[in-house]
Amino acid sequence: MESLGNLRRTHHCNALGKADIGKEVILMGWVLRRRDHGGVIFIDLRDREGLTQIVFNPEINPEVHAKAHQLRPEWVLAVRGHVEGRPESMANAKLATGEVEVLIDELYILNSSETPPFPLDEESEVSDNLRLQYRYLDLRRPEMTANLILRHKAVQTMRNYLNDLGFLDIETPMLTKSTPEGARDYLVPSRVSSGKFFALPQSPQLFKQLLMVAGMDRYYQIVKCFRDEDLRADRQPEFTQIDMELSFVDEEQIIEINEGMIQTLFKATLGLDFTPPFPRITYADAMNRFGTDRPDMRFGMELVDLSEIAASCGFKVFRGVADSGGAVRAINAKGCSTFSRKELDDLTGWVTQFGAKGLAWVKMKAGGEWQSPIAKFFTDEERETIATALNAEEGDLLFFGADSQKIVYQVLGELRLEVARRLGLLKKDDFNFVWVTDFPLVDYDEKEKRYQAVHHPFTCPREEDMDKLESDPGHVLSRAYDLVLNGTEIGGGSIRIHRMDIQSRVFKLLGIGEEEADEKFGFLLRALALGAPPHGGIAFGLDRLMMIITGSDSIRQVIAFPKTQKATDPLTNAPSSVSRRQLTELHIRPDWKEQEV
Ligand code: AMO
Ligand code: AMP
Repeated sequence: MESLGNLRRTHHCNALGKADIGKEVILMGWVLRRRDHGGVIFIDLRDREGLTQIVFNPEINPEVHAKAHQLRPEWVLAVRGHVEGRPESMANAKLATGEVEVLIDELYILNSSETPPFPLDEESEVSDNLRLQYRYLDLRRPEMTANLILRHKAVQTMRNYLNDLGFLDIETPMLTKSTPEGARDYLVPSRVSSGKFFALPQSPQLFKQLLMVAGMDRYYQIVKCFRDEDLRADRQPEFTQIDMELSFVDEEQIIEINEGMIQTLFKATLGLDFTPPFPRITYADAMNRFGTDRPDMRFGMELVDLSEIAASCGFKVFRGVADSGGAVRAINAKGCSTFSRKELDDLTGWVTQFGAKGLAWVKMKAGGEWQSPIAKFFTDEERETIATALNAEEGDLLFFGADSQKIVYQVLGELRLEVARRLGLLKKDDFNFVWVTDFPLVDYDEKEKRYQAVHHPFTCPREEDMDKLESDPGHVLSRAYDLVLNGTEIGGGSIRIHRMDIQSRVFKLLGIGEEEADEKFGFLLRALALGAPPHGGIAFGLDRLMMIITGSDSIRQVIAFPKTQKATDPLTNAPSSVSRRQLTELHIRPDWKEQEV
C-alpha cells in the first residue's frame, strides 16, 4: 500500500474530454471493472462524479503494467498519466468521458479491497438487507450517488429560496417534550431526573410557534423528525422535514410562497416548470370522488355514488347496506372487461385487507348486457341507470363496494390505484399537484370514544365555524391544507390558533382537561397569552419529495442511512442491547430476560 504523499488530484473522474488531450493528469478513485485486451489492461476508474477509462500498456510502461495486474474491483488508486483521444470506433457515447482515455505512467495503490459482497457494476438483484448492511458500498453505485447529489441540490435550492424571502434558519431541540402529531414517541430517559423522559420531536411544531411568539417572523429549518409508527415505503422512523412558520399571514400567502418553492425546486432538479397556482380540491370533494384525502389525479376512474339506486334494488347486499345508512359506490375501469376470472378473484381477495366483505363486478358486453354474478338482481332499467351513472360502455369493467362509507372509500380508493397500477396509468414523469383544503377540524375515534385532531391540536378552526366548537364539533372545518403530489402527501400545514381562549376550547374538545392541558401544554398557553401574533406554517417531507423527483419506489432510496421496515439498522445493528450499568444509571430496571452485555 502506498501513501498519498503530496500527490494532488487534477481532475475528478467525470471531467476529461477532447479538449484535455495531451495533458498530464492525476486521478484518484476506485476500480470499477477491469478488462485485459491482448496484454493491455483497461480499468474504469470511478469516483463520485463518474468514470474515466485508464490504460496500462506493457509496451509503453512494462513496470506499471505489471503492477496493474494485481488490481481488483474496489481497490483505491491514484494514477498519473496522459490524456489520449480514443479511436472513433472505441469512443463511448454513453460516457461523459467516453472520447478519451488516460495512459498511465505512475500507479499508486492507496488501498486494496476484499471482494465486495455484491457487485457494484451492474444492476444485480441484491437484497435490501445486504444493501443496508453494506450501505457505504451501495452508495458507491452511480444511481444512489446521483440520488444523494440531487437531494443536496434540492436542499440548497430550497434554502436559497427561503433565505431570499427573509426566513431565518433556527434550530430547535431534539431532547424535548412530546408534540402530538399522531404517532408514538421515541423516548430518551433522563439520568439526572430519575423516572423522567425526553421525547424526540415528532416535529418542531410547538417550538416554531414559540419562535413566532418570540417575534422571529419567518422561520425555517431542514430538520429530522422522529415517529415510532408502522413503516411503509414512504415512511421512516426518522425522516426530514422542510419546516417553516410565518407571522401575520393567511393561508393564501403561505400557499403562494410554497408554490413558488416547489416550482423552483422542480426547475432546479428536473428542469421542469410547473406554473402556479396549483389546483385545489376540498377534503369533502377528494373523499367523495377519490375515496381519500390524498387523491392521485393523474387519472380518472372516480367513485360514483349509487346509494340511491341501491336502496330500491333487488340485490340484498346493496339494499341492506343502503337501508342501514351505509354507502354503495362504484368505479369504472375503462376497457378492463378483459380481466380474467382469476384476476377478479385475486382482486376480491386483495380488497379484504381494507375491510371489504366482497367485490361485486360487472363486465360490460355488447348491447349494454352485463356479464356479472349480480346481473340477475337488477332490472333492465336499473342496469341502465347504473351504466349511465358510470358512463359504462362495451368493454368496461365496473367494481362495486357496499359497506360503511369509511370502508367503501378505502376499498374503492385503493382498488382504483391498483387497477391504475396494472394498466400502467401511474406514470412517474407525470407530476400532478393538488392542494387539499377545508379539512374537518376533528374526527370521532369510535374506539377511544373521543374526538381527535385531524391535523394537530394547534390548527385553527375556521372563523365562521367557531361557534360550533362545542355544539357541533364534527362539522367544524379547519384552516389546514395539504399538498398532494401523485397520491402522496408531500406537505401539510395550517393557520394556527394564536389565542389562548380558543386553544383552551380546542383542548377541551379533544378531551384534554384543564389539568392535563396545563401539564402538557401550559408553556404554549402561557405564550399565547403573552402577545402571540397570528401565524401559520407548513412542513414538507423532504424524503418523499426526493422519492418522487428521483422516480424511486421507496424513500430508502434517497436517504443515506435509512432503517429497515422493522425500524432497525443492519449496518450498525441498532437498536442494540446496553449494559446493566447504563440502565441502572438511567434508573431503569429491566423486566426482560437477562441480556447479553
Ligand atoms: P405532518 O405530520 O403532516 O405535519 O408532516 C409533514 C410532512 O412530513 C412527511 N412525513 C413523513 N415522511 C417520512 N416518514 C414519515 N414517517 C413521515 N411522517 C410525515 C409528510 C408530511 O406531509 N408539524 C406539522 C406541520 C405543520 O403543521 O406545519 C407536521 O409535522 O410528507
Ligand atoms: P353473494 O350474494 O354474497 O354471493 O355476492 C355476490 C357478489 O357480490 C359477489 O361478487 C361478492 O363479491 C359481491 N359482494 C358481496 N358483498 C359485497 C359488498 N359488501 N360490497 C361489494 N360487493 C359485495
